[in-house]
Amino acid sequence: MNPFLDEIVATLSAAAQLPAEDVAELLAVPPDDTLGDYALPCFTLAKVLRKNPAQIATDIAQAATAAVEASPQLAQVQAAGPYVNVLLDRGAFIGWVMDAVRDAGSGYGSQNQGEGRTVTIDFSSPNLARPFSIAHLRSTAIGHAIYRIHAFLGWKCVGINHYGDYGANFGQLLAAYQLWGDEAQVAANPVPELLSLYVRFNDEVEEKPELREESRSRLRRLADGDEEMVKLWRFFVDAGRKEAERIYGILGVHFDEFKGEGDFAGDLDDVIALFEKAGLAEESDGALIVRLHDEEGEEIAPCMLRTSNGTSTYHSRDLAAMLYRQRQYDFDKMVYVTDSRQALRFRQLFQALAKAGMSWVDRCEHAPFGMMSFKGEALSTRKGRMIILEDVLDQAIELTRGVIAEKNPDLAEADEVARQVGISAVVYADVSNRRTRDISFSLEEVLNFDGETGPYLQYTHARYCSILRRYGQAVDAQADTAVLQELAEMRVARCLSAFPGVLSRAESENEPSYVASYLIELAAQANKLYNEVPVLIAEDPAVKAARIRLVDATRGVLQTGMTLLGMNCPEEM
Ligand code: ARG
Repeated sequence: MNPFLDEIVATLSAAAQLPAEDVAELLAVPPDDTLGDYALPCFTLAKVLRKNPAQIATDIAQAATAAVEASPQLAQVQAAGPYVNVLLDRGAFIGWVMDAVRDAGSGYGSQNQGEGRTVTIDFSSPNLARPFSIAHLRSTAIGHAIYRIHAFLGWKCVGINHYGDYGANFGQLLAAYQLWGDEAQVAANPVPELLSLYVRFNDEVEEKPELREESRSRLRRLADGDEEMVKLWRFFVDAGRKEAERIYGILGVHFDEFKGEGDFAGDLDDVIALFEKAGLAEESDGALIVRLHDEEGEEIAPCMLRTSNGTSTYHSRDLAAMLYRQRQYDFDKMVYVTDSRQALRFRQLFQALAKAGMSWVDRCEHAPFGMMSFKGEALSTRKGRMIILEDVLDQAIELTRGVIAEKNPDLAEADEVARQVGISAVVYADVSNRRTRDISFSLEEVLNFDGETGPYLQYTHARYCSILRRYGQAVDAQADTAVLQELAEMRVARCLSAFPGVLSRAESENEPSYVASYLIELAAQANKLYNEVPVLIAEDPAVKAARIRLVDATRGVLQTGMTLLGMNCPEEM
């Protein structure tokens, strides 16, 4: 894939008499890259070779010298302490990277890993009885990035929203509406009115536990098909769906399938039949369960198919949805993006289906993520302390508008740019952290134009767009880039060459944060390049044309990467 890295690996593994895979695994960009473009750290080899790391490095460098001198791709090999440093032929390397980027065009970074295979991605899936809070953003933003990364790498993606339109929250809403709701007010303004009813119910229930029965009895009536309850429930679900779709419009998120839990409640008998046929369904206190075990054979919490009331469960509705998706899409991979508190659930679902002989369940994975707190306070909807996503987005846009007014008062379309930057800042903050980490969110931090933030990436991209605008001519895609010999240019090129590998890892680990950290590094190198070498004022026209190619390639990868994360890329800001 990268002939220069292959050459280093071949040369060093021959010199060290080590397997190529071991060398490839260890090869890295050295801490001081003035001495080497890539380096082999010898610490871990000390044990195997029974010599000290510095001695090993010296021996390998010496053994590799002749081969390096003969190689057109490599320029120099040298030991520095415990590292074997290798310098590449700079012009040849940069030329190779630039041609690879040019030839792949806007598809640069993809190696068509998906080969048209199908992946279904279940993400966002909010509970519609509750308002779209910032807590929902995590699944939405991470899932959307996983979707885009897969699609870019050649997967056929099916984005599924398995929204929650069933269960206790709806009982609470039904009760609150009938106890305190004002029909006309709710009809005129459903989302905020339902929200305040929901919050009131959860506040009052602490002092008045009898309210629980109000909610439970209505839920039972709903399950029994009571006309009044069904009609109200439909109204709530429709309002919730409309609201969710409005938010997805703001975020630019699209789903290929929009089916709620309620759509699968009717499949309960099929699910039960499957487990009964396999001899796995068992009565327990009136409920129907499937017993499950961990690797050591210890029993874990069972998977409940049917409650003692005879109704479907969150588990059975999910099982029905899995069977449906398998039939409908025959997926090669299915990813569930939910918070890590649901890890046990997915273990239960996968194991239950495996026991029933559904071997395709091996293709299902759970991509869990950590909790988000807002300035240290955990986000809870029920307590009314919830932070509405749209409020956060509005604030982010407003703050961005202020920054733009100060930094670039003459910017055309300032409002639209503020919108794009504000929203992307919030999205970036969400996807840039390692998925499983708990994160704490602060608007000031995520909007810092100089920090490791979305606005910083967008600013760098816009800066590069501005260079190209001021250049005012078409980029010469054939310009000879072998004239690029500066370290700053080498750093950018090396970073560009790493993009396909980063995407590959992000895809296989469902980890968009790899792309986020990568973009920060690329942006840092891009800004250094601009500060350290003259681009538009380069004297030699050949050098200028080559640098413009490098600028254009870098701008393109920044744009691709940000788009994959679900961000916007304004050309001016
Ligand atoms: N509605 C659930 C929640 O808000 C997430 C559903 C995830 N998807 C699924 N198929 N269970 O936590």
